[in-house]
Amino acid sequence: MKGIILAGGIGTRLFPLTKITNKILLPIGRHPMVYYPMANIKKCGIKEVMIVTNRSHIGDFGSVFGSGKGCGVHITYAVQDEAKGIVDALKEAEDFAKNEEMLVFLGDCIFEKPIEYFYENFMNKQKGTGARVLLYKVTDPERFGVATIKGDHITEIEEKPEQPKSSYAVVGAYLYDKTAWDKIAKVTPSARGEYEITALNNLYIEEGTLEYDIVDGKWLDAGTFKTLLEAGNLMMKADSYYEE
Ligand code: DAU
Repeated sequence: MKGIILAGGIGTRLFPLTKITNKILLPIGRHPMVYYPMANIKKCGIKEVMIVTNRSHIGDFGSVFGSGKGCGVHITYAVQDEAKGIVDALKEAEDFAKNEEMLVFLGDCIFEKPIEYFYENFMNKQKGTGARVLLYKVTDPERFGVATIKGDHITEIEEKPEQPKSSYAVVGAYLYDKTAWDKIAKVTPSARGEYEITALNNLYIEEGTLEYDIVDGKWLDAGTFKTLLEAGNLMMKADSYYEE
């Protein structure tokens, strides 16, 4: 199993904070944001991690983690030349993760409680095959990928729908098997011109191999001023799960 943290993108919603640094390096509680996805990846026992970022900030991530030795993992760095979407960033990790399962984390995805249960369910219930996502009930689903659920199954995910069919957001941590790479090759740009993670997840739904868990505790996408502040406050209380 490989861990991948996606930290490309421009961070326009947090401008001008993102004029001087990458969104994923902004402070959350006592740590730069990227520490939290890294802590979760480590909790799942994953030792090989790739960070994909843009050309301006690759050195900054290197300054934070170096080889990764200090936090008990081995880190490889990659550059996404242009912010063409989450799946486009993920393509940079193909050689790194081609023959293994992967835990993909959006860098701004903050969980109150560690998500080992998600990883364990993928490995035990699905034997590391197909894909697994995490759902969280929100009051503003139009900001997210939104899952329609029938019985035990997700039947569809819509990216930022104007009229959401449920209040379940698909959060920014995803587990995929090796077949992800064939599916990624089939993803074409959406109406807003991005290679969407929702398109990849929908290919697993078509195949009947996408399963889910409901997030335990709180979850935040720290990508706006309001949620950045909320995530900071939450992590000041929950910080104990990050050990350096
Ligand atoms: O937060 C969960 C949501 O994240 C999901 O519900 C959506 O389905 C998913 O599309 C995503 O929506 P966002 O609007 O929050 O995505 P955003 O553009 O903020 O990108 C999230 C992270 O992904 C960003 O912090 C860094 C990384 N990223 C994004 C883009 C567009 C890249 O590495 N490269 C990119 O080109």
